[in-house]
Amino acid sequence: MKKYILITGGAGFIGSHLVRLLVNKYPDYDIFNMDVLTYAGNLENLKDVEAKENYTFIKCDICDLDKVRNVFKEYQIDHVIHLAAESHVDRSIKDPFSFAQTNVMGTLSLLQAAKESWSNNYADKLFYHVSTDEVYGSLGEEGFFTEETAYDPHSPYSASKASSDHFVRAFHDTYGLPTVISNCSNNYGSYQFPEKLIPLFINNIVNNKPLPVYGKGENVRDWLFVNDHARAIDVIFHKGKLGETYNIGGFNEWKNIDLIKVMIKTVDRLLGREEGTSEKLITYVKDRAGHDLRYAIDSTKLKEELGWEPSLQFEEGIEKTVAWYLENQEWLNNVTSGDYQAYYQKMYTKYTMYQEVKKEIESFGFSVVSHDFERPWGGFLVIDEIQAQEFSNKFFEGIDVNTLKIGGKLSPKILIVKPNARLSWQYHNRRAEIWQVYIGSAGIIRSDSDVENEMKIYNKGE
Ligand SMILES: NC(=O)c1ccc[n+]([C@@H]2O[C@H](COP(=O)([O-])OP(=O)(O)OC[C@H]3O[C@@H](n4cnc5c(N)ncnc54)[C@H](O)[C@@H]3O)[C@@H](O)[C@H]2O)c1
Repeated sequence: MKKYILITGGAGFIGSHLVRLLVNKYPDYDIFNMDVLTYAGNLENLKDVEAKENYTFIKCDICDLDKVRNVFKEYQIDHVIHLAAESHVDRSIKDPFSFAQTNVMGTLSLLQAAKESWSNNYADKLFYHVSTDEVYGSLGEEGFFTEETAYDPHSPYSASKASSDHFVRAFHDTYGLPTVISNCSNNYGSYQFPEKLIPLFINNIVNNKPLPVYGKGENVRDWLFVNDHARAIDVIFHKGKLGETYNIGGFNEWKNIDLIKVMIKTVDRLLGREEGTSEKLITYVKDRAGHDLRYAIDSTKLKEELGWEPSLQFEEGIEKTVAWYLENQEWLNNVTSGDYQAYYQKMYTKYTMYQEVKKEIESFGFSVVSHDFERPWGGFLVIDEIQAQEFSNKFFEGIDVNTLKIGGKLSPKILIVKPNARLSWQYHNRRAEIWQVYIGSAGIIRSDSDVENEMKIYNKGE
């Protein structure tokens, strides 16, 4: 069944993996990624899916209730998977207010918008809240967090997440909002902002920089490969029972210091250094205030009730992760230098333009059946072929669409219809029998020869 799913925080680490999974796995679902793009949000994480027809990016702060309401209305949102958050514990210690604002107030504004928008009919609706095992506090040497463990958060981050979980439950119990919550252990994998332990340390080992270890490195965390978290969210989203909570974990506990040594060995080996050479970079620093000793999650309920299990052993996951960061030095450099934010500037101009043109075309009753705005010269929208002549009548002074061939061959003929107009069009791709409408880069229509050159590149599939 068709679903209109709002994923918040989709430009972040876990969100981008989830968006990729759902966009590719469910072409029938429309996925809307709402993200305000803080330092942690990076649209480059989603380059491979951003041109997909069932994916739309919406720049929006989840705390802006009016905007959020409009998004629900405009895109007929019927499902939410909420990940947007401030997520770094160290930052929460320095600035607890922004954590309360985003994680608590932001969650509340999404809940409110969902409640208002769905209030007359909760059938086939879901508000899925993604949370953390840190809400449960700290364990001693033994035991596991289960779904029944009492909340006992210690850092401003975990306190804000605990509070957001309570609000989600309150909306379920008070207003009957269809909700589900999952609490997951520490994630690792590709596209994680390099302030977090694993990418930070890989980057530092590569660059021979010190590896700051809190206290004696005795803290224990349960690590889960991020793709497995995304798979678990997919399973819970489709099969989870309303009002329930599911713990997600890898049964994979590591003392920080042991994990660091595994990373050192792996990076050293993959870089052709003698294994363990980089251990000299380990630097013990004063422990973090309120640092929880041990987290360990029991995800038996998820396994027994919904049939989910991690797909990877840790050794395999960490090898893949290290290899990814080594192969994607450019991504890492862009993130560490802040250049990734320029990518957004570049892309957002195109997104805005594309969305404006799409709206304008649709307001005249034409359907846009697909698009690609990742071409070097801008991008295109595809109009249903049946509407082509009508479209020409409306926008291009009634030119006969069947005459648009050069010497009867398939080579494209580009028509620039009006000087300085934003739309141009062409007859192309007969096999797919579709009509394409071009959006000139940054609203400026180029010369015929310019566009034809671009088309040559396009036709060669470059
Ligand atoms: N990383 C982990 O190990 C882990 C483990 C369990 C649960 N979680 C939870 O999963 C979720 C995602 O975590 P992550 O590690 O991917 O975080 P992240 O910091 O990488 O990404 C957060 C995303 O939210 C966006 N965002 C922040 N404030 C926003 C706002 N006001 N409006 C709209 N977007 C906003 C950011 O731009 C970013 O894209 C969080 O809710 C986190 O609590 C994370």
